[in-house]
Amino acid sequence: MPETQPRYARLPVLSKTGIVVLRSFPGRLDPAEWESLTYLDWKSGGDTNFAVLASATGDDDPRGFWEHDKPDKDGIWTANALRAPTLRKWVTSVGARFGRVRIIKLYPSTSETQVTGEYLHLDDNNRLNPDGEGWVVRAWLNLTDDPDSYMILREDRDDPSTEHRIPLPAGAQFVVDTERLWHAAYHTGTAARYAMIASFESGPALQAWIDANAAERTSAQRPMTGAEISR
Ligand SMILES: [Fe+2]
Repeated sequence: MPETQPRYARLPVLSKTGIVVLRSFPGRLDPAEWESLTYLDWKSGGDTNFAVLASATGDDDPRGFWEHDKPDKDGIWTANALRAPTLRKWVTSVGARFGRVRIIKLYPSTSETQVTGEYLHLDDNNRLNPDGEGWVVRAWLNLTDDPDSYMILREDRDDPSTEHRIPLPAGAQFVVDTERLWHAAYHTGTAARYAMIASFESGPALQAWIDANAAERTSAQRPMTGAEISR
C-alpha cells in the first residue's frame, strides 16, 4: 500500500469531533431484556458490571477479542443474547460488522471530580485490526432514563476545554471514536444506569445507519462543547 494511503478506513463524519449523536431510539425497550441477564464483575470507567451479548467465542467472556487473537469484529452471540431479542436486533439492524457487544451496569458516580480524575480512559478497539480494514468505533444505546447523567468525552484527558458531554436519557444513541477520545460516564441518581455498547467497523454500512438515524440539530441532542458547559 502506498504511504499516502490511510492505514484504516474511517468515517469523515467522525473526523471533526470523534462523536456523532443520533436521534433517539424509536422502539420500545423492555427492562427484562437487560435485567434478566448474567452480569460479570468487570471494572471500566467506574463501579461497573457487564453482561456480554457478543464475545470473541460466544462464551460469557468480557475480555477483549485480542485475547483470542481476533480483532474486535465478528462477535458471536452469547447465551445472554437469547434473552435480549430487541437489543440483538438493534445491533444487526446497523448492518456493519460488529465485535464485542455488552450491557454496562454503572452504579451512581461518587462525584464528577472522581470521574474526570480517575475514570477517563481510551478504549483499545483496533488491536489486531488488519491494515486496510475499517477502524473500529463504538455505538451506545442508553437503556435506562438518566437525563441528568452524561458521557464526558475529551480530546485531551487533562484539558477540560476539549470536552463534550452527551446526555443519557432512555433511547439515547451515539457513535464515538473511543480510541481517540478519553471518556467516562458521570451518573447521577440512586439507581444503576444500563446501556448497550457495541463495537462496529467503520465503512459504508455504518455510515448508512448513521445517515438514517441522523439527529435534528437541536440543543438537546447536540453534544455540548466546552465553552457551553457551566462549571
Ligand atoms: Fe471505554
